[in-house]
Amino acid sequence: MTKMLREFKLQVIEGEFTNSQIIVMLGESGSGKTTFMRMLVGLSKPDSGVEIPELHVSYKNQKINPKRATKVKDLLHEKIRDSCTLPQFVTDVMKPLQIEQLMDQEITKLSGGELQKVALCVCLGKPADINLMDEPSAYLDSEQRIVAAKVIKRFVLHAKKTAFVVEHDFIIASYLADKVIVYEGKSSVDCIANSPVFVDWDESLLISTGYHI
Ligand SMILES: Nc1ncnc2c1ncn2[C@@H]1O[C@H](COP(=O)(O)OP(=O)(O)OP(=O)(O)O)[C@@H](O)[C@H]1O
Ligand SMILES: [Mg+2]
Repeated sequence: MTKMLREFKLQVIEGEFTNSQIIVMLGESGSGKTTFMRMLVGLSKPDSGVEIPELHVSYKNQKINPKRATKVKDLLHEKIRDSCTLPQFVTDVMKPLQIEQLMDQEITKLSGGELQKVALCVCLGKPADINLMDEPSAYLDSEQRIVAAKVIKRFVLHAKKTAFVVEHDFIIASYLADKVIVYEGKSSVDCIANSPVFVDWDESLLISTGYHI
């Protein structure tokens, strides 16, 4: 399928995924990762090609802009009340992300990293078959990135979900990925999102995604 956004053209090659899999999207800035994710979520329609089936998804946006001043605990109560009462969710997600200590803070006053952790918690806590996370490690320090990656990995395995993750950090990407979608082409102009493939983390993959070493 294809999508045009003014000067930018994205072509997506058909592919397959199953549950209990993490599919990592790898590509340079402006290669169309967010564009494809928005189509999977149903926020944007492809111009041509196959219709995307209506998927039961939970989506964490790349840009997190809290719209109103709410305490973290009220936000969690409103968005993921049921998950917060599940011991497995508390152990697998809330505890490692240290959400408890943020509960009384207003979301508009959280740091970038704190906000990212709350957004990740909300995304994983919403009932869905597929979790789509656009740059979940942005704003996190290197230790927190590893914690967040472990949380995502464990959650997908335990809950038998599928996750699509956009990730620029190669170490985190290689830890997370069962399959990768590699973006190729000229960024901001004309790109291809390839089918998800099982990963061989060799130099050719780094080069094909623009990570020259
Ligand atoms: N609504 C829009 N109107 C016009 N152009 C757009 C729109 N949204 C995105 N684009 C353009 O499409 C291209 C791909 O954008 P996209 O956000 O999908 O990239 P990305 O791979 O997610 O990049 P990054 O890694 O920086 O987040 C960019 O050149 C961007 O400027
Ligand atoms: Mg993006």
